[in-house]
Amino acid sequence: MDIKEHIRSIPDFPKPGINFYDISTLLRHPDAWQVTMGRLAKVVGGWRPDVLAGIESRGFLTAAPLALKLGCGFVMVRKRNKLPGATVRYDYDLEYGSDSIEIQADAVEPGQRVVVLDDLLATGGTANAAVQLFRKVGAEVVGVAAIVELNFLHGRDRLDVPVATLASYDE
Ligand code: PRP
Ligand code: MG
Repeated sequence: MDIKEHIRSIPDFPKPGINFYDISTLLRHPDAWQVTMGRLAKVVGGWRPDVLAGIESRGFLTAAPLALKLGCGFVMVRKRNKLPGATVRYDYDLEYGSDSIEIQADAVEPGQRVVVLDDLLATGGTANAAVQLFRKVGAEVVGVAAIVELNFLHGRDRLDVPVATLASYDE
């Protein structure tokens, strides 16, 4: 099965000139989603993670079902001020302005093996921020995985862990 046949590209969203790769069509196709999860399970499972971390919001859709399938814990990486209790924050620069993400301070045990999951890897800024957060709390990040990769933004070059994606695009 070609996963790309279930992902649509919507031009000029959210801004003129940007091509939005929409996984809604993949999510609502039960067989294609099943195959997607199976392929992710193969590569991510090979990294022997204890915990899968999903990045708000579309990373939740990827990480939570995969964690269930692999028998791993699931941890939320959220946008700032959304998580209760003690949190750890990482601020990062965007093309214009900055952003920050957080995890709960006790989200993982020191030394636990974490894989960071998202729907899409673009510049890699968000995934790298999540990697840095888990390192801050003493976890070992053993990989980053996503369904879609935008090759032309070279996100994987920003990451110093193994990276796996299922469908990559050159424009
Ligand atoms: C998108 C996408 C990734 C991130 C990739 O999320 O879901 O999380 O951008 O970009 P990067 O590699 O350049 O950092 P978005 O911020 O649109 O939010 P959403 O998942 O809540 O829709
Ligand atoms: Mg996202």
